[in-house]
Amino acid sequence: MPAIAFVNGRFSRIEKAVVSVEDRGFQLGDGVYEVLRTYNGRLHAVDAHLRRLFRSLDAIELKHRFTRAGLTRIIREAVRRGGFKDSLVYLQITRGATKRMKEFPKGVPPTLVITVRELELPSPALRANGAKIMTAADIRWMHCDVKSICLLPNVLASNKARAAGCYEAVFVAKDGSLTECASANIFIVKKGVIATPPISASILGGITREEVIAVARKHRLPLQERRVTLKELLAADEAFLTGTTIEVLPVVQVDGRRIADGKPGPVTQRLHALYLAEVA
Ligand code: PDD
Repeated sequence: MPAIAFVNGRFSRIEKAVVSVEDRGFQLGDGVYEVLRTYNGRLHAVDAHLRRLFRSLDAIELKHRFTRAGLTRIIREAVRRGGFKDSLVYLQITRGATKRMKEFPKGVPPTLVITVRELELPSPALRANGAKIMTAADIRWMHCDVKSICLLPNVLASNKARAAGCYEAVFVAKDGSLTECASANIFIVKKGVIATPPISASILGGITREEVIAVARKHRLPLQERRVTLKELLAADEAFLTGTTIEVLPVVQVDGRRIADGKPGPVTQRLHALYLAEVA
């Protein structure tokens, strides 16, 4: 089945979909995005994703007339047209297509792109054995809470990680604190207490992060949102990543050093099971 695209009001197969070479997303990275998925064909956490999208749009002062209801309708229709068992939905809004200039253009409508393709889940081996990750200096900007399409530091860190045989890169700030990964949030577990960096401008407020925190609280698992250092990660009993497609994914190695015994931990596995029970 072909992947589907929706560009400024028109559905097509993804290979047929185009935007202008003058699009400010292409020229300047002047836009924001969201990534959603379905579970058994049902869109997951669409309201939370669209709330975050609208916060991102506000943060970059992108004026628009989109509504949550309107976008939800289009996403649902795109998912229906895709017809996949489970779908990965990508949504991007840019400040439109116009002559290249840094200041905001006047009277130019935003570009809306939605694509729907078959969802690829982490392999059973990765889930069973856990992920190796590597550290990267956090050289990103000061608004990582905005889901901006400017992802060059994430691209470079991800690529370096993959080239080194790792699944992800975890960003480490100058003071030794962890922020998040190139495409996921990070958690550690020490003596039964779960910890994750707090919401700030240094991380994206992951929807999955929020859901996992809610699940932990519901089941009375001790959890702290606080500064977490690289030193603590290396000395943790367990570590895991959260994200829309990976859900709760164990981390077993950082820069070639094993976390505890180098196997996915029990708290991580329990949280993943509880998470799946919640979303199913
Ligand atoms: N990224 N942090 C970063 C930097 C991310 O890019 C993502 C997700 C997350 C997790 O957010 P959520 O739980 O809402 O998926 C955290 C998407 C999947 C991407 O860029 O492809």
